[in-house]
Amino acid sequence: MDYDTFVSGVLCFCTLLGLVEWRSNFLLGGVAQATASQEGNSKMEKWSANDLYISKQLIPDDDVLSTALNSGKQYTTDYEISSTQGQLLYLLAKTKNANRILEVGTFCGYNTIWLEQALPEDGKLISIEYEKAYAKTAQANIENAGLSDKVTILQGNAVDVLKTLIHNNESPFDMIFIDADKPSYPEYLKLSLQLSKSGTIIYGDNVVRDGELCNVNSTDEKVKGVQKFIQEMGKIKTIESTTIQTIGIKRYDGFTLSIVK
Ligand SMILES: C[S@@+](CC[C@H](N)C(=O)[O-])C[C@H]1O[C@@H](n2cnc3c(N)ncnc32)[C@H](O)[C@@H]1O
Repeated sequence: MDYDTFVSGVLCFCTLLGLVEWRSNFLLGGVAQATASQEGNSKMEKWSANDLYISKQLIPDDDVLSTALNSGKQYTTDYEISSTQGQLLYLLAKTKNANRILEVGTFCGYNTIWLEQALPEDGKLISIEYEKAYAKTAQANIENAGLSDKVTILQGNAVDVLKTLIHNNESPFDMIFIDADKPSYPEYLKLSLQLSKSGTIIYGDNVVRDGELCNVNSTDEKVKGVQKFIQEMGKIKTIESTTIQTIGIKRYDGFTLSIVK
């Protein structure tokens, strides 16, 4: 065997070894990924099953809420809060003896109805929705449920509507629930504070975003919005705040809770 043949034989052998190693890495990586995804799916199934279990034990059936929830399905299946979260908001509003509630992001009124149910007879809830079709469906749900006396749905861009409420000297709210476009959350916080008083609760939804909240390199505008929202909360001296991570039927997410001093 001459020198050239020997060298090309060695090179060929090395290439084959490399290919075998790459192929096994590729296959093992694929298996690891498939296992991780199966584990993720089974965890997700368990979280959802527990949410359903809790809901079945603790939350009574309610035709008005079911109608609102079903009406949203013509647009999307993923916008509404879970029933366990609805019950939490209801309990918070009750604990607070809230008389005036502001909601940013109505969709078809499912969460609006949860909050409305915590209000006393003379209570008032204003909810803001940008999309005309959603606002119309929400309005129909509110009217069909006979809640028009307490609930007002304002259609428009929430920043503009909030500024108008401030301009019109709207009385402060006891509770403010923020659940609209995430990039605007810092602005919603700033404006909400102008519609608050000592003791007002401000609740911001969907802030953990599948764990991306702490990803400082995220380029996702929604993640950047909630990061700024929470950073601002930490800086504002007139509120005390926390953020709670949640898992369940709505996957891995979380919410902020603040109280105005
Ligand atoms: C997640 S959904 C709200 C769901 C509702 N809280 C519930 O649980 O039934 C968010 C809503 O905010 C609305 N929204 C988004 N950007 C908005 C804006 N700039 N002004 C007002 N509403 C907005 C969307 O159209 C959508 O209906």
